Amino acid sequence: MFKYIGVNDRKIDLFEGQYIVPEGMAYNSYVILDEKVAVFDTVDKNFTEEWLGNLASALDGRKPDYLIIQHMEPDHSANICQFMNAYPEATLVSSAKSFTMMKNFFGEDFADRRMIVGENDTLSLGEHELMFITAPMVHWPEVIVTYDKKDKVLYSADAFGKFGALDAQEDWACEARRYYFGIVGKYGAQVQALLKKAAALDIRTICPLHGPVLSENLGYYLDLYNTWSSYGVESDGIMIAYTSVYGNTKKAVELLAEKLTEKGCPKVVTNDLARSDMAEVVEDAFRYGKIVFATTTYNSDIFPFMKEFINHLTERGFKNKTVAFIENGSWAPVAATVMKKMLDGSKNLTIAENNVKILSALNDENRIQIEALADELTK
Ligand code: FEO
Repeated sequence: MFKYIGVNDRKIDLFEGQYIVPEGMAYNSYVILDEKVAVFDTVDKNFTEEWLGNLASALDGRKPDYLIIQHMEPDHSANICQFMNAYPEATLVSSAKSFTMMKNFFGEDFADRRMIVGENDTLSLGEHELMFITAPMVHWPEVIVTYDKKDKVLYSADAFGKFGALDAQEDWACEARRYYFGIVGKYGAQVQALLKKAAALDIRTICPLHGPVLSENLGYYLDLYNTWSSYGVESDGIMIAYTSVYGNTKKAVELLAEKLTEKGCPKVVTNDLARSDMAEVVEDAFRYGKIVFATTTYNSDIFPFMKEFINHLTERGFKNKTVAFIENGSWAPVAATVMKKMLDGSKNLTIAENNVKILSALNDENRIQIEALADELTK
């Protein structure tokens, strides 16, 4: 079996410069000790010494023969040169595209110390035979994942990863979903392609590059990945995303949430886009099947947080949902028209017939509109 030599990052504030990670981040790395010794991936640049120390302990006096690089993003590739200097007899194993990226990142592509691998190529370590599987755009184009035929382990690169250090006590799905939709969400078709390849393998353990090793109840994780990457509905419920300048749009949202609950909606989630973690709201939009967008007209357009939110959705291939709109505008309301236009290219959206148009503050007509929308969404 493998040995774990990864590190926990409890200092990072924003992963990839944009995702808050209150429970830190894990950069995973693994070693297989067989007749030959293979190391999977390196870690972030701030953990060179710790990682090389973990590696030396795991090696117990032996020397690595191979460093397998599955993904060139710097959270995993930053220590390639340090490794190659520390172990001058080791061979670097990766995809052709990775070596091009290495040249661009490090000015070096290890031309005399490398092995280029592609789809279904194998590498024998002795008892362990490794098979490489290409996984383009999960999450970059050069990605490979690796299947160990002996132990039936899939080394899955970023796939099946999550935010959070390994000592974080938290639900896997919550932070894996936020990670998935934030980082890989645009590439559902490519994740589906990888899942199809994985379905042909007998997998007992998944070793991702972030988050825990998964070894029990793998069907649960595979099912979630299938739902997410096919833009399916994971949870029964309705999500309302809103912005409110003076509290009037918020009142409409609160009334709608109350009516939806009264009418039997099993779960109503409301998110104030100005005060929520955007990545959390984005994952909710992909999690539920019905989304209500509520915002104000602003500069003949829509309020900035809503604009940003819808852009996050459309760039990730938002589709297969029921959507409804609440707009507010004191003199020339255009918010609903703008929001609909922004979602024009999203496939398979069902647009609710009952929309809500507020002209500053809720009035009796609006209350009737909200009641009708709640009826429509719960029928
Ligand atoms: Fe964990 Fe795409 O890097």
